[in-house]
Amino acid sequence: MKIAVVPGSFDPITKGHLDIIKRTAKIFDKVIVAVLTNSSKSPTFTKEERVEFIRSCTEGIDNVEVDSFSGLLADYTKNVGACAIVKGLRAMSDFEYEFQMALTNKKINRDVETMFLTTSYKYLYLSSSIVKEITRNGGDISEFVPEIIHDKIVEKFK
Ligand code: PNS
Repeated sequence: MKIAVVPGSFDPITKGHLDIIKRTAKIFDKVIVAVLTNSSKSPTFTKEERVEFIRSCTEGIDNVEVDSFSGLLADYTKNVGACAIVKGLRAMSDFEYEFQMALTNKKINRDVETMFLTTSYKYLYLSSSIVKEITRNGGDISEFVPEIIHDKIVEKFK
């Protein structure tokens, strides 16, 4: 069985993330969406909230599971028997960091490949930070986040 891990902070999950998850689920037998810690960010939503948000957004997709992990992504992929890490690439600005991560993960776990999916054109500009910035300032995020979690995100900033 070919297992892919889609890792990230998902703080919170956006329509751009969901697009990558759905497309990965069409290619692999099983997809594990893994909420991990990015040590350079301090999350707004708790790990439990982020996992719950992703679960509710992916409920109808049979081969998608959601999990969280506190250590290294490369160790996690080994633990779950994944052959690939899949990430969305928005622009050249993402590339340098992602390339560094991909090489590091390969060094730690030589059995895992990192694969990049080109972000869909309509989500090129989108990020969790933009979603939070708009919400914080009273703007409308309905275009950017799955409807099922919209109100929970807005509530967090009240
Ligand atoms: O959504 P993000 O913040 O771009 O995701 C980055 C994430 C969480 C996937 C990355 O920081 C990560 O893999 N964290 C786990 C620790 C790790 O393995 N770091 C990379 C090797 S030093």
